[in-house]
Amino acid sequence: MKLIDGKQTAADIRAELKLRTTTFEKKYGKKVGLAVILIGNDPASQVYVRNKIKACEEAGIRSFAHYLPETASEEEALSLIDALSADENVHGILVQLPLPQQLSAEKILAAIPPHKDVDGFLAENIGKLALGEESTVACTPLGVMELLKRYQIPVKGKRAVVLGRSNIVGRPMALLLLNADATVTVCHSKTLSLKEECLRADILVAAIGKPKFVTADMVKEGAVVIDVGINRTEDGKLCGDVDFENVKEKASYITPVPGGIGPMTIAMLLTNVVKAAEKNA
Ligand code: GUN
Repeated sequence: MKLIDGKQTAADIRAELKLRTTTFEKKYGKKVGLAVILIGNDPASQVYVRNKIKACEEAGIRSFAHYLPETASEEEALSLIDALSADENVHGILVQLPLPQQLSAEKILAAIPPHKDVDGFLAENIGKLALGEESTVACTPLGVMELLKRYQIPVKGKRAVVLGRSNIVGRPMALLLLNADATVTVCHSKTLSLKEECLRADILVAAIGKPKFVTADMVKEGAVVIDVGINRTEDGKLCGDVDFENVKEKASYITPVPGGIGPMTIAMLLTNVVKAAEKNA
């Protein structure tokens, strides 16, 4: 079994980006810029936003943090997005999800111009991905593909099984694997004979948010196992969707939690921001 080190790979990517942001700044006389909007008081979101802002600084990206209260109206959110859309120092706009109840994520995200959608959440970007066209892709599934690439794990012609069909991970993950010529199966809560589907996988991606759901009896000998889950066990420890200790005996490659896909998500966000800046400056 080989361990896929997302933490180290993410650090390598951040160092590569630092060179690109330095070049950008010399060329255009300003920094690459990311606006981050956090609405409300969700504690997990506060941690994520703090981490994203810190990662930006380290990669030489200027961050513009905007905090709106839990009670913010749709008009307030939309007028902020309008201002950031027009701001030439802002190359990417990220609205941290989830939003407070009174706000529609669909409506608020739709106000972001597609070329500043560094999360790849907009219908236009997901549509392009579905058509196999160049687009900005959601950071977590993009991080999975980047790890497969850097570890030289072949995808073409392989049977890939994705557990989960969320708009943020499962769906774009399946499309990326399909675009890379895998034979893709998407499983979800209504899937019959889930174990049999998983046992066929050469590449198994778990993104369902259930601690240690994928057990060794669901994994083919030699499979590549990618764990996107971030869960807490009863004693407060972080764990993924995969029963790592037992599955690692069967897998050819496996990602740990923490230190696997998690750090890659932020590295790919930074990558999307730098790409957007280079493309639109
Ligand atoms: N909430 C959970 N994951 C994400 C993400 O990748 N981007 C944003 N904007 N919000 C999230």
